[in-house]
Amino acid sequence: MERRRTAILISGRGSNMSALAAAAMEPDYPAEISLVVSNRPDAAGLVRAREMGIAIDVVDHKAFGDKAAFEAALTATLERAGTEIVCLAGFMRLLSEDFVHRWHDRLINIHPSLLPAFTGLNTHVRALDAGVKLHGCTVHYVRAAMDNGPIIGQAAVPVLPGDTPEALGDRVLAAEHQLYPRALALVAREEVRVVDELVRFSTPPAKPPGMLLSIG
Ligand code: GRF
Repeated sequence: MERRRTAILISGRGSNMSALAAAAMEPDYPAEISLVVSNRPDAAGLVRAREMGIAIDVVDHKAFGDKAAFEAALTATLERAGTEIVCLAGFMRLLSEDFVHRWHDRLINIHPSLLPAFTGLNTHVRALDAGVKLHGCTVHYVRAAMDNGPIIGQAAVPVLPGDTPEALGDRVLAAEHQLYPRALALVAREEVRVVDELVRFSTPPAKPPGMLLSIG
């Protein structure tokens, strides 16, 4: 089986990166994590990636005069590694239309809310403030508009009485670690494709969507 060469872009602790890398250690997983790139030299996730035996690189946005130069360096780094799929996992830079176009339908992101609700930051606080009873996370293809793009999968978790943003965030994060490897596997196996800006399945997903974890 040919495994798709996948790079993960991070800015911080990298727990989703670790979940993807752990999944990719299974022999029948359709993607290999060939590179982890951080825009921050001090990202904790870099240490974790190195411990897991994954190649790492830093493309520090502060070292470049503008976004175009930063993204050119990022793309060069990804291309050097023969990257086919790019996963954003807590990558905290907004990417330009040019970059998104370069990686069109090969660039995916995980966001800690049930999109299109709560794009942007502080999603757990905002979910609690809104009084929603279900919250969760989304893996989607990236488009130029932030936290926008065809949805590959979502996982929902209950909002429980007395939840703090931290408790809710931990519950969502555990769901993220389940969802992201499954979503990447669908992309890597080319079981999903985008038609009219909606994700379609080439074959019906092996597992029918559950109530609280719906991917497909
Ligand atoms: C996750 O909640 C992810 O959904 C969001 O940023 C956070 C990154 O966490 N985009 P980690 O670095 O993967 O632990």
